[in-house]
Amino acid sequence: MACHGEGVRKPRIAVVIPPKIFYVRRMAYRVRSGKMCGGVSVIRVAGDKSIAHRALWCAALARGTSTIRGLPTGHDVACTRGVIEALGASTRVVDDALLVEGCGGAWVVRQAVLDCGSSGTTLRLATGALCGTDGNFLLFTSPQLARRPMQLVIDALRELGADLVLDPAPEKIRALMPSARWPADRVPRVLIHGRPLRGGAVHLTEPSAQLKCALIFAALHAETAVTISAPTTRDHLERMLPAFGVNITVSGDEIMVQPSRMKKKLSVPLTQPSPQWERACLTSANIDIPGDPSIAAPWIAAATLRPRRHNFIIRNLSLNPTRLGLVRCLNRMGAGIWVYQCTSTQEPIGDLVISPRMTSLRPCVLSREEMPTLIDELPLLALVCAHAHGTSVLHGVAHLRGKESDRLHGVLTALRARGVMAYLHGCDTLVIHGQRAAWRRVPVAPVADDHRMTILHTLLALIANDFAGTMIRDPNAVKKSDPDFWNVLARVWPGSVYCADVPTWRCGS
Ligand code: S3P
Repeated sequence: MACHGEGVRKPRIAVVIPPKIFYVRRMAYRVRSGKMCGGVSVIRVAGDKSIAHRALWCAALARGTSTIRGLPTGHDVACTRGVIEALGASTRVVDDALLVEGCGGAWVVRQAVLDCGSSGTTLRLATGALCGTDGNFLLFTSPQLARRPMQLVIDALRELGADLVLDPAPEKIRALMPSARWPADRVPRVLIHGRPLRGGAVHLTEPSAQLKCALIFAALHAETAVTISAPTTRDHLERMLPAFGVNITVSGDEIMVQPSRMKKKLSVPLTQPSPQWERACLTSANIDIPGDPSIAAPWIAAATLRPRRHNFIIRNLSLNPTRLGLVRCLNRMGAGIWVYQCTSTQEPIGDLVISPRMTSLRPCVLSREEMPTLIDELPLLALVCAHAHGTSVLHGVAHLRGKESDRLHGVLTALRARGVMAYLHGCDTLVIHGQRAAWRRVPVAPVADDHRMTILHTLLALIANDFAGTMIRDPNAVKKSDPDFWNVLARVWPGSVYCADVPTWRCGS
Protein backbone atom coordinates (compact mmCIF):
# COMPACT_ATOMS: atom_id res chain seq x y z
CA MET A 1 0.00 0.00 0.00
CA ALA A 2 1.29 3.26 -0.93
CA CYS A 3 1.75 5.78 1.85
CA HIS A 4 -0.03 9.00 1.65
CA GLY A 5 2.01 11.43 -0.28
CA GLU A 6 4.03 8.79 -2.13
CA GLY A 7 4.35 9.51 -5.86
CA VAL A 8 3.99 13.24 -5.34
CA ARG A 9 6.99 14.95 -6.86
CA LYS A 10 9.04 17.14 -4.61
CA PRO A 11 9.13 20.65 -6.00
CA ARG A 12 12.42 21.35 -7.73
CA ILE A 13 14.31 24.34 -6.60
CA ALA A 14 15.73 26.15 -9.58
CA VAL A 15 19.04 27.70 -8.80
CA VAL A 16 19.55 30.71 -10.97
CA ILE A 17 23.12 31.84 -11.17
CA PRO A 18 23.11 35.48 -12.14
CA PRO A 19 25.36 36.18 -15.13
CA LYS A 20 28.43 38.16 -14.34
CA ILE A 21 28.06 41.67 -15.55
CA PHE A 22 31.11 43.53 -16.67
CA TYR A 23 31.40 47.22 -16.96
CA VAL A 24 33.53 47.93 -20.00
CA ARG A 25 34.46 51.23 -21.50
CA ARG A 26 34.66 51.18 -25.25
CA MET A 27 36.66 53.90 -26.87
CA ALA A 28 34.72 56.07 -29.30
CA TYR A 29 35.30 59.43 -30.93
CA ARG A 30 32.86 62.29 -31.31
CA VAL A 31 33.37 64.16 -34.57
CA ARG A 32 31.97 67.56 -35.49
CA SER A 33 32.80 70.37 -37.87
CA GLY A 34 36.24 71.64 -36.95
CA LYS A 35 37.47 75.17 -37.35
CA MET A 36 39.79 76.04 -40.17
CA CYS A 37 41.27 79.39 -40.93
CA GLY A 38 43.04 80.47 -44.10
CA GLY A 39 46.39 78.85 -44.78
CA VAL A 40 47.96 75.72 -46.13
CA SER A 41 47.86 72.18 -44.79
CA VAL A 42 50.48 69.73 -45.99
CA ILE A 43 49.58 66.06 -45.72
CA ARG A 44 51.78 63.03 -46.32
CA VAL A 45 49.92 59.76 -46.46
CA ALA A 46 51.21 56.22 -45.87
CA GLY A 47 52.50 54.01 -48.67
CA ASP A 48 50.07 52.45 -51.12
CA LYS A 49 48.48 49.26 -49.79
CA SER A 50 47.94 47.65 -53.20
CA ILE A 51 51.53 48.23 -54.33
CA ALA A 52 52.78 46.94 -50.97
CA HIS A 53 50.94 43.58 -51.24
CA ARG A 54 52.28 43.07 -54.75
CA ALA A 55 55.83 44.05 -53.84
CA LEU A 56 55.87 41.60 -50.90
CA TRP A 57 54.70 38.70 -53.08
CA CYS A 58 57.17 39.47 -55.88
CA ALA A 59 60.01 39.79 -53.36
CA ALA A 60 59.02 36.46 -51.75
CA LEU A 61 59.00 34.70 -55.13
CA ALA A 62 62.33 36.22 -56.17
CA ARG A 63 65.81 34.90 -55.62
CA GLY A 64 67.98 37.20 -53.50
CA THR A 65 67.22 40.22 -51.35
CA SER A 66 64.69 42.83 -52.40
CA THR A 67 64.38 46.22 -50.74
CA ILE A 68 60.96 47.75 -50.19
CA ARG A 69 60.72 51.35 -49.00
CA GLY A 70 57.56 53.07 -47.79
CA LEU A 71 55.72 49.92 -46.69
CA PRO A 72 52.49 50.92 -44.89
CA THR A 73 51.81 49.59 -41.39
CA GLY A 74 48.07 48.76 -41.61
CA HIS A 75 46.54 45.37 -40.79
CA ASP A 76 46.16 44.16 -44.39
CA VAL A 77 49.77 44.54 -45.43
CA ALA A 78 50.88 42.98 -42.13
CA CYS A 79 48.81 39.91 -43.11
CA THR A 80 50.65 39.49 -46.42
CA ARG A 81 53.98 39.95 -44.67
CA GLY A 82 52.97 37.26 -42.14
CA VAL A 83 52.01 34.87 -44.95
CA ILE A 84 55.25 35.19 -46.90
CA GLU A 85 57.24 34.80 -43.68
CA ALA A 86 55.29 31.64 -42.84
CA LEU A 87 56.28 30.28 -46.27
CA GLY A 88 59.95 30.86 -45.49
CA ALA A 89 60.77 34.30 -46.87
CA SER A 90 62.74 36.21 -44.26
CA THR A 91 62.15 39.90 -43.66
CA ARG A 92 63.93 42.52 -41.59
CA VAL A 93 63.66 46.25 -41.17
CA VAL A 94 66.81 48.25 -41.87
CA ASP A 95 66.39 52.02 -41.43
CA ASP A 96 63.35 52.98 -43.48
CA ALA A 97 63.33 49.84 -45.64
CA LEU A 98 62.09 46.29 -45.39
CA LEU A 99 64.56 43.75 -46.75
CA VAL A 100 62.97 40.56 -48.04
CA GLU A 101 65.08 37.48 -48.69
CA GLY A 102 62.98 35.62 -51.24
CA CYS A 103 62.54 31.87 -51.64
CA GLY A 104 63.47 31.79 -55.32
CA GLY A 105 60.31 29.99 -56.35
CA ALA A 106 60.66 27.06 -53.92
CA TRP A 107 58.99 27.70 -50.58
CA VAL A 108 60.95 26.61 -47.54
CA VAL A 109 57.68 25.45 -45.89
CA ARG A 110 55.68 23.31 -48.30
CA GLN A 111 52.87 22.22 -45.97
CA ALA A 112 51.73 25.62 -44.78
CA VAL A 113 48.66 26.80 -42.87
CA LEU A 114 48.45 30.52 -43.57
CA ASP A 115 46.48 33.26 -41.80
CA CYS A 116 45.04 35.89 -44.16
CA GLY A 117 43.22 37.70 -41.33
CA SER A 118 40.63 40.09 -42.75
CA SER A 119 42.68 41.02 -45.80
CA GLY A 120 40.91 40.16 -49.06
CA THR A 121 43.98 41.16 -51.09
CA THR A 122 46.18 38.78 -49.08
CA LEU A 123 43.75 35.90 -49.62
CA ARG A 124 43.24 36.42 -53.36
CA LEU A 125 46.87 37.13 -54.23
CA ALA A 126 48.06 34.20 -52.11
CA THR A 127 45.65 31.85 -53.88
CA GLY A 128 47.09 32.88 -57.25
CA ALA A 129 50.72 32.93 -56.14
CA LEU A 130 50.59 29.49 -54.48
CA CYS A 131 48.45 27.33 -56.75
CA GLY A 132 51.26 26.72 -59.26
CA THR A 133 54.01 26.12 -56.69
CA ASP A 134 55.21 22.97 -55.01
CA GLY A 135 53.31 22.25 -51.78
CA ASN A 136 49.96 22.01 -50.01
CA PHE A 137 48.53 25.15 -48.48
CA LEU A 138 45.53 25.98 -46.33
CA LEU A 139 44.50 29.64 -46.28
CA PHE A 140 42.28 30.60 -43.34
CA THR A 141 40.60 33.92 -42.65
CA SER A 142 38.48 35.90 -40.22
CA PRO A 143 34.73 35.12 -40.33
CA GLN A 144 34.19 38.54 -41.96
CA LEU A 145 36.48 37.72 -44.89
CA ALA A 146 35.00 34.23 -45.13
CA ARG A 147 31.72 35.86 -46.22
CA ARG A 148 33.31 37.76 -49.13
CA PRO A 149 33.19 36.50 -52.74
CA MET A 150 35.96 34.16 -53.84
CA GLN A 151 34.35 31.86 -56.39
CA LEU A 152 35.45 33.88 -59.45
CA VAL A 153 39.11 33.62 -58.40
CA ILE A 154 38.81 29.86 -57.91
CA ASP A 155 37.05 29.36 -61.27
CA ALA A 156 39.58 31.45 -63.20
CA LEU A 157 42.57 29.64 -61.66
CA ARG A 158 40.97 26.26 -62.41
CA GLU A 159 40.95 27.27 -66.07
CA LEU A 160 44.76 27.21 -65.84
CA GLY A 161 44.61 23.76 -64.27
CA ALA A 162 44.89 24.74 -60.59
CA ASP A 163 43.76 22.22 -57.99
CA LEU A 164 41.98 24.10 -55.21
CA VAL A 165 38.91 23.83 -53.01
CA LEU A 166 36.87 26.73 -51.70
CA ASP A 167 35.48 26.37 -48.16
CA PRO A 168 36.98 22.88 -47.75
CA ALA A 169 35.26 20.33 -45.52
CA PRO A 170 37.37 19.11 -42.53
CA GLU A 171 37.75 15.63 -44.15
CA LYS A 172 39.26 17.17 -47.28
CA ILE A 173 41.72 19.17 -45.20
CA ARG A 174 42.63 16.10 -43.13
CA ALA A 175 43.14 14.02 -46.29
CA LEU A 176 45.60 16.51 -47.81
CA MET A 177 47.18 18.02 -44.70
CA PRO A 178 46.67 15.66 -41.72
CA SER A 179 48.49 17.91 -39.25
CA ALA A 180 46.82 21.19 -40.27
CA ARG A 181 45.58 23.27 -37.31
CA TRP A 182 44.07 26.75 -37.20
CA PRO A 183 42.64 28.98 -34.45
CA ALA A 184 39.02 28.40 -33.37
CA ASP A 185 37.99 31.94 -34.32
CA ARG A 186 39.21 31.50 -37.92
CA VAL A 187 37.60 29.87 -40.95
CA PRO A 188 39.47 27.62 -43.43
CA ARG A 189 38.78 29.25 -46.77
CA VAL A 190 40.95 27.80 -49.55
CA LEU A 191 42.79 24.48 -49.73
CA ILE A 192 45.46 24.37 -52.42
CA HIS A 193 47.28 21.37 -53.80
CA GLY A 194 50.01 23.08 -55.81
CA ARG A 195 50.80 21.67 -59.23
CA PRO A 196 52.26 22.89 -62.53
CA LEU A 197 49.73 24.95 -64.47
CA ARG A 198 49.07 25.01 -68.17
CA GLY A 199 49.13 28.21 -70.18
CA GLY A 200 46.44 29.54 -72.46
CA ALA A 201 43.91 32.34 -72.59
CA VAL A 202 41.60 33.47 -69.81
CA HIS A 203 38.84 36.00 -70.26
CA LEU A 204 37.65 37.95 -67.21
CA THR A 205 34.48 40.03 -67.18
CA GLU A 206 34.51 41.20 -63.57
CA PRO A 207 36.42 44.50 -63.08
CA SER A 208 38.53 43.20 -60.18
CA ALA A 209 42.23 43.96 -59.82
CA GLN A 210 42.65 41.26 -57.22
CA LEU A 211 41.22 38.63 -59.54
CA LYS A 212 43.49 39.80 -62.37
CA CYS A 213 46.55 39.76 -60.10
CA ALA A 214 45.78 36.27 -58.81
CA LEU A 215 45.88 35.11 -62.43
CA ILE A 216 49.08 36.98 -63.25
CA PHE A 217 50.82 35.42 -60.25
CA ALA A 218 49.56 31.99 -61.28
CA ALA A 219 50.72 32.61 -64.87
CA LEU A 220 54.32 32.94 -63.62
CA HIS A 221 54.21 29.19 -62.92
CA ALA A 222 52.49 28.08 -66.12
CA GLU A 223 54.09 25.79 -68.67
CA THR A 224 53.46 28.19 -71.56
CA ALA A 225 52.45 31.84 -71.93
CA VAL A 226 49.15 33.01 -70.45
CA THR A 227 46.99 35.70 -72.03
CA ILE A 228 44.51 37.44 -69.77
CA SER A 229 41.88 39.76 -71.16
CA ALA A 230 40.22 41.82 -68.45
CA PRO A 231 38.51 45.17 -67.90
CA THR A 232 40.96 47.93 -67.00
CA THR A 233 41.66 48.02 -63.26
CA ARG A 234 44.66 49.16 -61.19
CA ASP A 235 47.81 48.03 -63.00
CA HIS A 236 50.49 48.12 -60.28
CA LEU A 237 51.56 44.51 -60.78
CA GLU A 238 51.93 44.91 -64.55
CA ARG A 239 54.16 47.94 -63.92
CA MET A 240 56.19 46.22 -61.19
CA LEU A 241 56.91 42.78 -62.68
CA PRO A 242 59.50 43.90 -65.29
CA ALA A 243 61.64 45.21 -62.39
CA PHE A 244 61.64 41.61 -61.05
CA GLY A 245 62.75 40.32 -64.44
CA VAL A 246 59.38 39.08 -65.69
CA ASN A 247 58.44 39.30 -69.34
CA ILE A 248 54.95 40.82 -69.33
CA THR A 249 53.33 42.83 -72.09
CA VAL A 250 50.13 44.84 -71.98
CA SER A 251 48.23 45.90 -75.06
CA GLY A 252 44.78 47.37 -74.61
CA ASP A 253 42.86 45.10 -72.26
CA GLU A 254 45.10 42.10 -72.97
CA ILE A 255 47.98 41.05 -70.73
CA MET A 256 50.48 38.43 -71.85
CA VAL A 257 52.70 36.80 -69.19
CA GLN A 258 55.64 34.61 -70.15
CA PRO A 259 56.36 32.03 -67.46
CA SER A 260 59.42 32.99 -65.54
CA ARG A 261 61.48 29.81 -65.47
CA MET A 262 64.50 29.04 -63.36
CA LYS A 263 67.69 28.77 -65.35
CA LYS A 264 69.03 25.24 -65.20
CA LYS A 265 72.51 26.14 -63.97
CA LEU A 266 72.47 28.47 -61.02
CA SER A 267 75.62 29.69 -59.39
CA VAL A 268 73.84 29.92 -56.01
CA PRO A 269 72.40 26.55 -54.99
CA LEU A 270 68.75 26.63 -53.87
CA THR A 271 66.75 24.32 -51.67
CA GLN A 272 66.01 21.33 -53.88
CA PRO A 273 62.41 21.16 -55.09
CA SER A 274 60.78 17.91 -56.04
CA PRO A 275 62.27 16.80 -59.39
CA GLN A 276 59.25 17.48 -61.62
CA TRP A 277 59.11 21.13 -60.60
CA GLU A 278 60.52 23.81 -62.75
CA ARG A 279 60.31 26.83 -60.53
CA ALA A 280 59.15 30.29 -61.43
CA CYS A 281 62.05 32.47 -60.48
CA LEU A 282 62.04 36.24 -60.30
CA THR A 283 65.13 38.35 -59.73
CA SER A 284 65.27 40.66 -56.70
CA ALA A 285 64.43 44.35 -57.05
CA ASN A 286 64.21 47.64 -55.16
CA ILE A 287 60.71 49.08 -54.81
CA ASP A 288 59.78 52.54 -53.51
CA ILE A 289 56.12 52.68 -52.54
CA PRO A 290 54.50 56.08 -53.09
CA GLY A 291 51.60 57.48 -51.04
CA ASP A 292 48.23 55.75 -51.29
CA PRO A 293 45.55 57.70 -53.25
CA SER A 294 42.85 55.86 -51.29
CA ILE A 295 44.30 57.08 -47.98
CA ALA A 296 44.50 60.60 -49.43
CA ALA A 297 40.89 60.42 -50.66
CA PRO A 298 39.13 61.50 -47.42
CA TRP A 299 41.31 64.62 -47.28
CA ILE A 300 40.68 65.34 -50.97
CA ALA A 301 36.90 65.01 -50.45
CA ALA A 302 36.89 67.03 -47.21
CA ALA A 303 39.02 69.77 -48.74
CA THR A 304 36.64 69.98 -51.68
CA LEU A 305 33.60 70.27 -49.41
CA ARG A 306 35.06 72.69 -46.85
CA PRO A 307 36.63 75.22 -49.18
CA ARG A 308 36.88 78.52 -47.25
CA ARG A 309 40.28 80.07 -47.78
CA HIS A 310 42.38 77.01 -47.12
CA ASN A 311 44.76 75.19 -49.51
CA PHE A 312 45.81 71.57 -49.19
CA ILE A 313 48.94 69.92 -50.51
CA ILE A 314 49.19 66.13 -50.53
CA ARG A 315 52.77 65.07 -51.10
CA ASN A 316 54.44 62.06 -52.70
CA LEU A 317 51.31 60.35 -53.96
CA SER A 318 50.97 57.63 -56.57
CA LEU A 319 49.50 59.40 -59.61
CA ASN A 320 48.76 56.14 -61.39
CA PRO A 321 45.82 56.98 -63.71
CA THR A 322 44.05 53.74 -62.72
CA ARG A 323 43.77 55.16 -59.18
CA LEU A 324 42.87 58.79 -59.81
CA GLY A 325 39.20 58.41 -60.74
CA LEU A 326 38.08 60.44 -57.71
CA VAL A 327 40.32 63.39 -58.63
CA ARG A 328 39.05 63.38 -62.23
CA CYS A 329 35.41 63.21 -61.11
CA LEU A 330 35.78 65.98 -58.54
CA ASN A 331 37.44 68.24 -61.10
CA ARG A 332 34.58 67.57 -63.51
CA MET A 333 32.21 68.59 -60.71
CA GLY A 334 34.00 71.91 -60.23
CA ALA A 335 36.69 71.19 -57.61
CA GLY A 336 40.10 72.84 -57.96
CA ILE A 337 42.54 69.93 -57.73
CA TRP A 338 45.90 70.31 -59.47
CA VAL A 339 48.17 67.37 -60.18
CA TYR A 340 51.96 67.94 -60.27
CA GLN A 341 53.97 64.93 -61.38
CA CYS A 342 57.51 64.91 -60.00
CA THR A 343 59.02 61.53 -60.90
CA SER A 344 58.13 58.39 -62.73
CA THR A 345 59.82 55.07 -62.09
CA GLN A 346 57.39 52.18 -62.30
CA GLU A 347 54.66 54.47 -60.95
CA PRO A 348 54.15 58.17 -61.68
CA ILE A 349 54.58 60.03 -58.38
CA GLY A 350 53.86 63.62 -57.42
CA ASP A 351 51.78 66.10 -55.42
CA LEU A 352 48.16 67.18 -55.40
CA VAL A 353 47.17 70.75 -54.62
CA ILE A 354 43.56 71.37 -53.65
CA SER A 355 42.73 75.04 -53.82
CA PRO A 356 39.53 76.76 -52.62
CA ARG A 357 36.60 76.10 -54.90
CA MET A 358 35.03 79.13 -56.57
CA THR A 359 31.76 77.62 -57.76
CA SER A 360 29.13 75.29 -56.38
CA LEU A 361 29.58 71.63 -57.26
CA ARG A 362 27.96 70.23 -60.38
CA PRO A 363 26.45 66.71 -60.31
CA CYS A 364 28.50 63.75 -61.55
CA VAL A 365 27.87 61.08 -64.15
CA LEU A 366 30.19 58.12 -63.64
CA SER A 367 30.49 55.41 -66.29
CA ARG A 368 30.86 51.69 -65.59
CA GLU A 369 34.40 51.78 -67.09
CA GLU A 370 35.51 54.55 -64.72
CA MET A 371 34.25 52.80 -61.60
CA PRO A 372 37.36 50.59 -61.00
CA THR A 373 39.52 53.73 -60.88
CA LEU A 374 37.73 54.86 -57.72
CA ILE A 375 36.26 51.63 -56.40
CA ASP A 376 37.44 52.24 -52.82
CA GLU A 377 36.57 55.95 -53.00
CA LEU A 378 32.97 55.46 -54.16
CA PRO A 379 31.49 56.16 -50.67
CA LEU A 380 33.38 59.47 -50.62
CA LEU A 381 32.29 60.36 -54.14
CA ALA A 382 28.69 59.67 -53.08
CA LEU A 383 29.17 62.06 -50.17
CA VAL A 384 30.40 64.83 -52.50
CA CYS A 385 27.53 64.11 -54.93
CA ALA A 386 25.11 64.56 -52.04
CA HIS A 387 26.43 68.13 -51.74
CA ALA A 388 26.29 68.90 -55.46
CA HIS A 389 23.62 70.96 -57.12
CA GLY A 390 21.55 68.40 -59.09
CA THR A 391 21.24 64.68 -59.66
CA SER A 392 24.31 62.45 -59.90
CA VAL A 393 24.20 59.04 -61.58
CA LEU A 394 26.92 56.51 -60.73
CA HIS A 395 27.05 53.32 -62.83
CA GLY A 396 28.79 50.02 -62.07
CA VAL A 397 28.30 50.11 -58.29
CA ALA A 398 27.18 46.48 -57.73
CA HIS A 399 30.82 45.42 -57.12
CA LEU A 400 30.67 47.35 -53.83
CA ARG A 401 28.42 44.76 -52.24
CA GLY A 402 31.32 42.30 -51.86
CA LYS A 403 33.67 44.54 -49.86
CA GLU A 404 34.36 44.36 -46.09
CA SER A 405 30.66 45.22 -45.70
CA ASP A 406 27.89 45.75 -48.23
CA ARG A 407 29.07 49.27 -49.01
CA LEU A 408 26.23 50.02 -51.38
CA HIS A 409 23.72 49.42 -48.63
CA GLY A 410 25.94 51.34 -46.19
CA VAL A 411 26.18 54.40 -48.45
CA LEU A 412 22.43 54.48 -49.10
CA THR A 413 21.65 54.16 -45.38
CA ALA A 414 24.18 56.81 -44.38
CA LEU A 415 22.94 59.37 -46.91
CA ARG A 416 19.27 58.74 -46.20
CA ALA A 417 19.88 59.07 -42.46
CA ARG A 418 21.11 62.62 -43.21
CA GLY A 419 17.97 63.36 -45.23
CA VAL A 420 19.56 63.00 -48.69
CA MET A 421 17.47 61.35 -51.39
CA ALA A 422 19.50 58.45 -52.78
CA TYR A 423 18.33 55.21 -54.39
CA LEU A 424 19.35 52.37 -56.70
CA HIS A 425 18.25 52.25 -60.31
CA GLY A 426 18.35 48.55 -61.23
CA CYS A 427 21.03 46.73 -59.27
CA ASP A 428 24.06 48.56 -60.64
CA THR A 429 23.31 52.31 -60.71
CA LEU A 430 23.26 54.69 -57.78
CA VAL A 431 21.26 57.91 -58.08
CA ILE A 432 21.82 60.77 -55.64
CA HIS A 433 19.85 64.00 -55.52
CA GLY A 434 22.30 66.55 -54.15
CA GLN A 435 21.08 69.00 -51.57
CA ARG A 436 22.94 71.78 -49.90
CA ALA A 437 20.26 72.58 -47.33
CA ALA A 438 20.88 71.75 -43.65
CA TRP A 439 21.49 68.04 -43.12
CA ARG A 440 19.68 65.93 -40.60
CA ARG A 441 21.49 65.28 -37.36
CA VAL A 442 22.84 61.76 -36.69
CA PRO A 443 23.99 61.51 -33.06
CA VAL A 444 25.48 58.00 -33.33
CA ALA A 445 26.88 56.45 -36.52
CA PRO A 446 26.22 52.75 -37.19
CA VAL A 447 29.08 50.27 -36.78
CA ALA A 448 29.89 48.42 -40.01
CA ASP A 449 33.23 46.73 -39.20
CA ASP A 450 34.53 48.37 -42.37
CA HIS A 451 37.30 51.00 -42.44
CA ARG A 452 35.93 52.84 -45.48
CA MET A 453 32.48 53.15 -43.89
CA THR A 454 33.95 54.45 -40.62
CA ILE A 455 35.75 57.08 -42.69
CA LEU A 456 32.53 57.97 -44.55
CA HIS A 457 30.62 58.49 -41.28
CA THR A 458 33.47 60.60 -39.94
CA LEU A 459 33.44 62.87 -43.00
CA LEU A 460 29.66 63.15 -42.89
CA ALA A 461 30.03 64.37 -39.31
CA LEU A 462 32.89 66.70 -40.26
CA ILE A 463 30.90 68.56 -42.88
CA ALA A 464 27.41 68.38 -41.35
CA ASN A 465 27.71 71.74 -39.54
CA ASP A 466 26.28 70.16 -36.44
CA PHE A 467 27.85 71.45 -33.24
CA ALA A 468 26.92 68.40 -31.12
CA GLY A 469 28.60 66.07 -33.65
CA THR A 470 28.33 62.35 -34.29
CA MET A 471 29.62 59.50 -32.17
CA ILE A 472 31.90 57.12 -34.09
CA ARG A 473 31.92 53.89 -32.10
CA ASP A 474 34.45 51.90 -34.14
CA PRO A 475 37.35 54.33 -34.59
CA ASN A 476 39.91 51.51 -34.66
CA ALA A 477 38.46 50.11 -37.89
CA VAL A 478 40.61 52.63 -39.80
CA LYS A 479 43.73 50.68 -38.79
CA LYS A 480 43.01 48.24 -41.58
CA SER A 481 44.40 50.74 -44.05
CA ASP A 482 45.42 53.97 -42.30
CA PRO A 483 46.48 53.83 -38.64
CA ASP A 484 47.27 57.58 -38.84
CA PHE A 485 43.77 58.69 -39.90
CA TRP A 486 42.70 60.23 -36.56
CA ASN A 487 45.99 62.07 -36.06
CA VAL A 488 45.72 63.72 -39.47
CA LEU A 489 42.09 64.68 -38.84
CA ALA A 490 42.90 66.22 -35.46
CA ARG A 491 45.86 68.12 -36.90
CA VAL A 492 44.21 69.45 -40.03
CA TRP A 493 40.74 70.21 -38.56
CA PRO A 494 41.56 71.31 -34.99
CA GLY A 495 38.69 70.75 -32.58
CA SER A 496 36.86 68.36 -34.87
CA VAL A 497 37.53 65.16 -32.96
CA TYR A 498 37.55 64.29 -29.29
CA CYS A 499 37.55 61.10 -27.29
CA ALA A 500 34.28 59.91 -25.83
CA ASP A 501 34.33 56.74 -23.74
CA VAL A 502 31.14 54.78 -24.16
CA PRO A 503 30.23 52.98 -20.93
CA THR A 504 28.68 49.61 -21.81
CA TRP A 505 27.39 46.82 -19.57
CA ARG A 506 28.27 43.44 -20.93
CA CYS A 507 27.11 40.02 -19.65
CA GLY A 508 29.44 37.08 -19.61
CA SER A 509 30.91 34.36 -17.44
C1 S3P B 1 42.57 46.00 -54.58
C2 S3P B 1 41.57 45.95 -55.51
C3 S3P B 1 40.19 46.36 -55.24
C4 S3P B 1 40.12 47.22 -54.00
C5 S3P B 1 40.91 46.67 -52.85
C6 S3P B 1 42.36 46.54 -53.23
C7 S3P B 1 43.91 45.53 -54.95
O1 S3P B 1 39.39 45.23 -55.03
O2 S3P B 1 38.78 47.39 -53.62
O3 S3P B 1 40.80 47.51 -51.73
O4 S3P B 1 44.89 45.78 -54.23
O5 S3P B 1 44.01 44.88 -56.00
P1 S3P B 1 38.71 44.43 -56.26
O6 S3P B 1 39.76 43.66 -56.92
O7 S3P B 1 37.69 43.54 -55.61
O8 S3P B 1 38.09 45.47 -57.11
